[in-house]
Amino acid sequence: MYRLIYKSKCKGTVDWRLVDQIIGSSEAHNQNDRVTGVLLATKSHFLQVIEGGFEEINDLFLRIARDPRHEEVQLVGFTCVESRLFGGWAMHGIGIFDFNEDLSAALISKWGEESGGVRFPVQEWQALALINDIRSSGPE
Ligand SMILES: Cc1cc2nc3c(=O)[nH]c(=O)nc-3n(C[C@H](O)[C@H](O)[C@H](O)COP(=O)(O)O)c2cc1C
Repeated sequence: MYRLIYKSKCKGTVDWRLVDQIIGSSEAHNQNDRVTGVLLATKSHFLQVIEGGFEEINDLFLRIARDPRHEEVQLVGFTCVESRLFGGWAMHGIGIFDFNEDLSAALISKWGEESGGVRFPVQEWQALALINDIRSSGPE
């Protein structure tokens, strides 16, 4: 089982319409390939975790990296893991752009700021720690 994390920059401004569109087209694909994960979005950037078999994760990452809706795709981690962190989700979208001001301010003060939102880290453990902060803060 492998876990891949990447960060990218959206070509336009991210909103729920775009996130829902991506999640909508991902769910069937991912379910079919036994891929699970989470997609975080600020107004400007994506941070995605995908988990599954070696071939499936490689193929999916190549497909995603070619998607014209984003650019500056940076690989943050590709690790062999014992088990899934996001086993319940074929793909779960988290719209950080929609968080309340207090939560956004807390995340920005801890992780830094980028284009007005929280800066997604480019170290694997930091990316997972950020996701953990969000999960334990309640909105998801
Ligand atoms: C930020 C982002 C995340 C994506 N995540 C997934 C995903 O988890 N699974 C998936 O099948 N497609 C995902 N896609 C969409 C793929 O890039 C691609 O459009 C989709 O898989 C359809 O590919 P196809 O037209 O070759 O079937 C994502 C796209 C973007 C921009």
